[in-house]
Amino acid sequence: MSVHEDDLSAAEEAHVVSLTAAEAEGDERAVEAALRPRTLDEVVGQTRVRAQLGLVLEAARARGRAPDHVLLSGPPGLGKTTLAMIIAHEMSTPLRISSGPAITHAGDLAAILSGMNEGDVLFIDEIHRMSRPAEEMLYMAMEDFRVDVVIGKGPGATAIPLEIPPFTLVGATTRAGLLPGPLRDRFGYTGHLEFYEADDLELIVRRSAGLLGVELHGEGAAEIASRSRGTPRIANRLLRRVRDYAQVRADGVVTLDVARATLELYEVDTLGLDRLDRAVIDALCRRFGGGPVGVSTLAVAVGEERETVEEVAEPFLVRNGFLARTPRGRIATPAAWRHLGLAAPAGSPLVGGGDPPALFES
Ligand SMILES: Nc1ncnc2c1ncn2[C@@H]1O[C@H](COP(=O)(O)OP(=O)(O)OP(=O)(O)O)[C@@H](O)[C@H]1O
Ligand SMILES: [Mg+2]
Repeated sequence: MSVHEDDLSAAEEAHVVSLTAAEAEGDERAVEAALRPRTLDEVVGQTRVRAQLGLVLEAARARGRAPDHVLLSGPPGLGKTTLAMIIAHEMSTPLRISSGPAITHAGDLAAILSGMNEGDVLFIDEIHRMSRPAEEMLYMAMEDFRVDVVIGKGPGATAIPLEIPPFTLVGATTRAGLLPGPLRDRFGYTGHLEFYEADDLELIVRRSAGLLGVELHGEGAAEIASRSRGTPRIANRLLRRVRDYAQVRADGVVTLDVARATLELYEVDTLGLDRLDRAVIDALCRRFGGGPVGVSTLAVAVGEERETVEEVAEPFLVRNGFLARTPRGRIATPAAWRHLGLAAPAGSPLVGGGDPPALFES
């Protein structure tokens, strides 16, 4: 497989096993299948995407045609694969599943396309990781429902046109910015998934508990939701650990105390920060006075690879305003000091007076 190294996220490379990682781990995808909503109505939250997508599908159904191609973008674990499956289900059509890394040659894509029937939904996960020649073939297939299959090499090569029945492509990506413009433009609808509010996550935890046969009392669900970093996958994972604890250490019922005790055991704190997240802001504040400090130095201080700090801990810390990336290095925000229960020294960056530093886009 000719996957470029820089295409692999550091999290995959380092294979960080963490309760709060947004990526699916090990055989988690099999467990998740049981918890996926099957219809748009069952989807919790994402009201805008749900309404927009619902309209696209309803109109296509009324016209008796395959819906426009759909691109779903957003961070891991927010429901892209779930929505792709729902699209096929709502259209009562079969779903064919592939992924960018699996399509290394244009021929791989031609083989998939030639097996499609009218109205089928083709789901290409991680579509930003497809090879360039396959991508170019896909442009044509999406627009004209035909592709040129090249047989042979060099001067003797011939292109054989291949008609494809109208189908719907559903692409998913965590990195919409990496998609070439021509590909992005060929999607009739793009849904951007957002992180979930705590209320919605609580509903998801309750729904999952019902499906898993877990008895939940009082504030247990809210406690799990508030530590799940806005991500249903993490909420479901924390629920499974809390269920274990309830079974082994309590009477099987998930209560607020059981949820708290479990999450304390696994070092997931009240705002969803894990051991590494806390180590990073702790080093930043206590050892480097709030920064600015280079990420490599910060990584050494917490005993991790630079990539792990950058790709695993920082996105969450930046998004939640605990850490800022500046041209001169990383700096702690007032929220970071507060979260550690420390008083920020006067004159430290981002705390008291002065212009805020220019921030890099994360
Ligand atoms: N809106 C939702 N309501 C209920 N459960 C959800 C919702 N969104 C996601 N989930 C649950 O979260 C888990 C992860 O969702 P999914 O696999 O669709 O994420 P993804 O965006 O495809 O992630 P990745 O980028 O890693 O492929 C699934 O088990 C699914 O049941
Ligand atoms: Mg997915």
